[in-house]
Amino acid sequence: MSMLLLKTVQEARAACREAKSRGGGVGLVPTMGALHAGHASLIEAAARENDFVVVSVFVNPTQFAPTEDLDAYPRSLDKDCALAEQMGAQAVFAPTAAQMYPGGEGVWVKVAGRLTEILCGRSRPAHFRGVTTVVAKLFNIIAPDRAYFGQKDGQQAQVIRRMAEELFVPTEIKIMPIVREADGLALSSRNVYLSGREREAALVLSRSLRAVREKIEKGERDPAAALSFLNGLIAAEPLARLEYAEIYSFPALEEFAGEMSGEVFIALAAKIGQTRLIDNIVVAAGPY
Ligand code: PAJ
Repeated sequence: MSMLLLKTVQEARAACREAKSRGGGVGLVPTMGALHAGHASLIEAAARENDFVVVSVFVNPTQFAPTEDLDAYPRSLDKDCALAEQMGAQAVFAPTAAQMYPGGEGVWVKVAGRLTEILCGRSRPAHFRGVTTVVAKLFNIIAPDRAYFGQKDGQQAQVIRRMAEELFVPTEIKIMPIVREADGLALSSRNVYLSGREREAALVLSRSLRAVREKIEKGERDPAAALSFLNGLIAAEPLARLEYAEIYSFPALEEFAGEMSGEVFIALAAKIGQTRLIDNIVVAAGPY
């Protein structure tokens, strides 16, 4: 059977119902398209664990602020379908905004509180509300047994976990590791915006995170010292403008009262030229 391209909510519902009636598990991989090897790793994982895998491709307008790159965001549905099929998906769900928001905006699913106010939430105040709203809609359309997200968007993954828990969503939320280029750059659909020089400069993110990991592995336990070390490394790259660098416990994303211990989440966002990139690393601050 060749892969299905589902364009409407009704088609998607019908296809997923039919897959369930055959007794198989349904997996969902939500994306905004421009698929790369990071997305591919999620689709592969989903294909291993489910009989029917749906990749959604929807550039969700409600998670972009008016000043952001909604119109410029790369779109490549034909290529995305080919990659999804190659990775083992049975269907791509590519709805229009009118399909996903039939009544316009105004019904929201929002995780309130500090989890959506720290990190990306500070500079993108309405962003996570758009993400949780569209993901809740996708969960209700597809009714997946399992849904796959990337640790690349580490805060997003925890926000979605929280939303699913609190709404008693019966879907199992799976979070997969960050896929990187050989030189360390985390794969992102936005990497296509980078010029050659910017691509080189963007390596400062992953390089600095690795350097902080090494410092913690060598015994650094003071979060403020680790942060100022990280800030210094980013400041040394003239093309990078740091938006935030923050350190929290993982996966709760809580501030350390004193020394770092257990799993440590180090995350940053920076603009390289006009392109906003994010990256993070989880480090074990075990006893030393
Ligand atoms: P998008 O940026 O397309 O990412 C889709 C999924 O792929 C997310 O779960 C993201 O974390 C994961 N991903 C992206 N780059 C990755 C990498 N280098 N390694 C591993 N996983 C990676 O995130 C979104 O879309 C949207 O916010 C969405 C959840 C679809 C809601 O609109």
